[in-house]
Amino acid sequence: MTIPNELTAQLTAALQQVLGDALPCDFSIPTVSVAQDLRFGDYQSNVAMMLAKRVGMNPRELAAKLTEAMESSIAATEIAGPGFINFRVRPEYFAARTEAMLQDERLGVALVDQPKTIVIDFSAPNVAKPMHVGHIRSTIIGDTLGRLARFLGHTVITDNHIGDWGTQFGMILWGWKHILDQEELKKNPIDALLDVYKQVNAKCKEDETLLPLCKAELVKLQGGDAENLDIWNKCIAVTKTGLQKIYDQLDIRFDYWLGESAYNDALAPLVEKLVADGIARESDGAICVFSDGFHKPQNDPFLVQKDGEWVPVPAIIRKADGGFLYATTDLATLDYRTQNFNADAIWYVVGAPQDKHFKQIFDIERMRGVSGDFRHVAFGSILGKDRRPFKTRSGDTVSLQDVIDEAIERATKVVEEKSPDMPAEEKAAVAQAVGVGAIKFAELSQNRLSDYIFDWDKMLALTGDTAPYLQNSYVRVRSIFRKIEGGFTAPEKMHLTEPAEIALARLLVRYAEVVPATLDDCKPNLLAAYLYELAKAFHSFYEACPVLRSEGDTRATRLALCELTARVLKQGMGLFGITMPDRM
Ligand code: ARG
Repeated sequence: MTIPNELTAQLTAALQQVLGDALPCDFSIPTVSVAQDLRFGDYQSNVAMMLAKRVGMNPRELAAKLTEAMESSIAATEIAGPGFINFRVRPEYFAARTEAMLQDERLGVALVDQPKTIVIDFSAPNVAKPMHVGHIRSTIIGDTLGRLARFLGHTVITDNHIGDWGTQFGMILWGWKHILDQEELKKNPIDALLDVYKQVNAKCKEDETLLPLCKAELVKLQGGDAENLDIWNKCIAVTKTGLQKIYDQLDIRFDYWLGESAYNDALAPLVEKLVADGIARESDGAICVFSDGFHKPQNDPFLVQKDGEWVPVPAIIRKADGGFLYATTDLATLDYRTQNFNADAIWYVVGAPQDKHFKQIFDIERMRGVSGDFRHVAFGSILGKDRRPFKTRSGDTVSLQDVIDEAIERATKVVEEKSPDMPAEEKAAVAQAVGVGAIKFAELSQNRLSDYIFDWDKMLALTGDTAPYLQNSYVRVRSIFRKIEGGFTAPEKMHLTEPAEIALARLLVRYAEVVPATLDDCKPNLLAAYLYELAKAFHSFYEACPVLRSEGDTRATRLALCELTARVLKQGMGLFGITMPDRM
């Protein structure tokens, strides 16, 4: 149990003791939270203020009775302000916790009580279309959520739901037959296809007879024409190979690649079923789902406000011409995942502009009586330094491959400056870890819902909340152990006395609280902020407390704090898919 959970349990027992039957049975006690200001303690509870009025007491009086009844071995209590209860954890208790951490591979992080099967739907670029910055964010955030959930004991299925059945194939098929450079395709498949798409797109604008020809190719494909299916298959295959190369560089793996096309056969029967069940109906020749009036208008994803009135925005699931849509595929995909994967949870890591789409999908599931932990894990955009959408100098969308290449190139310079004598092979490995780490950490340290500014200099800086800073901190800790003979042995007892020792131990112990909280809210920035704080606390500790020059129990305790810092940094960054080199 984490410290706040233990304190909450003790507080609950005290409440029952003090109030007995007077404790309102509908009252659920809020979890003790981290204190905002260290001067007032480590944790804090506002329970007395929340409850006092209901039980006819004054908050400070109730707080006093509670703290008297508590007599916690974990923390000393103090009452502050209008009735806050502050907890100052006893150094011996932090010591006991760090002793346990030294013996625990999981560093105190418990497995969840109720493991779920979670499908994480992320990355999902579209074949023959550029993988844009939205896909970069999705790729990095989704991978981290998968790692966190697995680490906490959930069964995780990662699925790359690529857009492999869109209308872009009309142009691609025509372009494949008329302008594709086969040599280029072999060399750089993703760019070659993209280039075909761009060229045909431009041609269509000049020559209006072309678009119908492209559409005819698409219709042939959808009708099962053998030649077009063959080309389509080749496009998918080369795209997957190209994408896999990028994912390998990022150390990202998918359990499945069930793209949109995997659900083609399920769409027609699904629409029929929805109509038969009275959930969907015909409107102007199309089949649509309208609001069923379950929500208040302001929360209803099938309504928008126009000129002061609520007007319907149905989800179209079959067009008048018989074609199916993105929403139809997502409904079929959700069915597949709940039925074949037994998913309890499906998390979609997709940009905020698709908010309405997912709200409608989840609401249609509610109408069908399908429930689960379905979440749209949304995120904002990436902006350039000029605060405009992040683009290349020529105005194109930035490709993930280019970002990776440039990051590694820049990281190579950082490593060369720091360690000119490092062997070339190690230098390359470190540059890879630093470059890729920098991109990932820059992404993950942001609140995902806000837009963030892509800034090469900032993300590769050796100071501030960056991957290189944390990697460098790790290297510094590791270098301490290179100076002692026989490596590290854990002491039986930790003796925490100096304020900097206690401050560091306090943060180390908090790791067990931060990891689950990060997954609960799907907010990697919580863990990122914590790791940065830990690295800073380590540096303050290292300045205040000599390690190698100290002796006896003090030395053993301090070395153990160093060791735990290194382990937490490495494991925590590992949950982001970031490698920590031993030297840099
Ligand atoms: N291919 C889509 C896009 O690029 C993202 C797909 C997300 N996943 C889903 N199940 N809709 O916008």
